[in-house]
Amino acid sequence: MIPDGTLNGDDVDFAFGFGRRICVGQYVADASVRTAIATLPAAFTFEKVRG
Ligand code: HEM
Repeated sequence: MIPDGTLNGDDVDFAFGFGRRICVGQYVADASVRTAIATLPAAFTFEKVRG
């Protein structure tokens, strides 16, 4: 973060580790979450609550 409070855009994602030990399954994990989210509209009906 820059002293005036703005972000400088060099944020790094540490969820899957980093360097030599970085997670080799990160693309599998990412893809399965995306697939799960993309499947929701086909699996469920979304509508406003009645009343
Ligand atoms: C949301 C799901 C996942 C998260 C948050 C995650 C996170 C991590 C992290 C933080 C590490 C580094 C551990 C360290 O520094 O010692 C790691 C390593 C590893 N992950 Fe994952 N992981 C995920 C899913 C997966 C999946 C789906 C696979 C396999 C298909 C996988 C396989 C591995 C392997 C083999 C390592 C060891 C890499 C090495 O030390 O060379 N992970 N994971």
